[in-house]
Amino acid sequence: EKGGYEHFMLKEIHEQPAVIKDTFRGRLLSDKGLIKMAGIEDNLQKFTNAKRIIVVACGTSWHAGLVGEYMIEEFARIPVEVEYASEFRYRNPIINEDDVVIAISQSGETADTLAAIKLAKEKGAFVFGVCNVVGSSISRETHAGAYTHAGPEIGVASTKAFTTQITVLALIALRLAEAKGTMSKSEYLRNLLELELIPEKVEEALKEDANIIKIAEIYKDSTNCLYLGRGFNYPVALEGALKLKEISYIHAEGYPAAEMKHGPIALIDEQMPVIVIAPNQNHYDKVVSNIQEIKARSGKIIAVVSKGDTQVKALADHIIEMPESTEALTSIIATIPLQLLSYHIAVMRECNVDQPRNLAKSVTVE
Ligand code: M6R
Repeated sequence: EKGGYEHFMLKEIHEQPAVIKDTFRGRLLSDKGLIKMAGIEDNLQKFTNAKRIIVVACGTSWHAGLVGEYMIEEFARIPVEVEYASEFRYRNPIINEDDVVIAISQSGETADTLAAIKLAKEKGAFVFGVCNVVGSSISRETHAGAYTHAGPEIGVASTKAFTTQITVLALIALRLAEAKGTMSKSEYLRNLLELELIPEKVEEALKEDANIIKIAEIYKDSTNCLYLGRGFNYPVALEGALKLKEISYIHAEGYPAAEMKHGPIALIDEQMPVIVIAPNQNHYDKVVSNIQEIKARSGKIIAVVSKGDTQVKALADHIIEMPESTEALTSIIATIPLQLLSYHIAVMRECNVDQPRNLAKSVTVE
């Protein structure tokens, strides 16, 4: 059942080109310039009239929610808040009838997310689910929803669920942008075409595997690791750090790159690998200067860069290349090398990759 792979996690990493395609199949009609998702179409006014959208989730799904926040705000100009379901449910949150709540969950069984949904419903909000497991508790408890089509995810560390969640959120953000007229037609169409190309770009990103194995060899005995990214890649940095800590038990932290100088820079020395997501996009120059700051303190840089990059390459200790897309969608591609890096390091440390200690696939108790 592992399809010839050594672990479910590796199989699931490699399934991403196919399952991302499954997730937009029948929904993304780029030749017609349309996005069609029944759960959104049937409730379009609820979304377009929403004063704000609140995303509730835990763990990796919460990271996907952060990418969703950036996408929905950027494309559809609707204010979005992203909350840990556990905090939301217990802090007497302000929820109104014109709020839309999006609950994201791979398993659809996470206790805190389920409780957050019940609370939001009691307060009169419209609740939309983004789940992977069909017929799960969360998919039944929400008013409407859109499934990710990642297929069964067995590895406890979430991989393909994350990238398909971002895919669904991109579809939602783009559909809302079209409905609200907040994006130019050409920008909208470009995003549809770019989304369609994501599976093949993910496939290309997977080809860096041999290079990533070499990097993993060098850093497998590290005790700490930092992950930095800006904009849409900030949540990707958080997710990269979570992946490393949960399967390899190396302490890792993700930060928005600019937060470095507000504390974490004190940790930098020659023992500290810093993984920087540095595609040649909007924040490139800023990320380059963050890299210079780290190099000046003898930190080791592993940079995830756009194919053909030269500037970061000249500064970094190691580079991992990836194809680019739009700024928003590059977050999906940049996730791939970080998954592979964690995977290989964990295997080299002889960790139980598919079933890390102390973790359960679905957290049905709070
Ligand atoms: O099933 P869910 O998406 O609701 O699960 C949420 C988290 O428990 C989950 O993402 C967890 O953080 C994973 N171990 C991450 O790899």
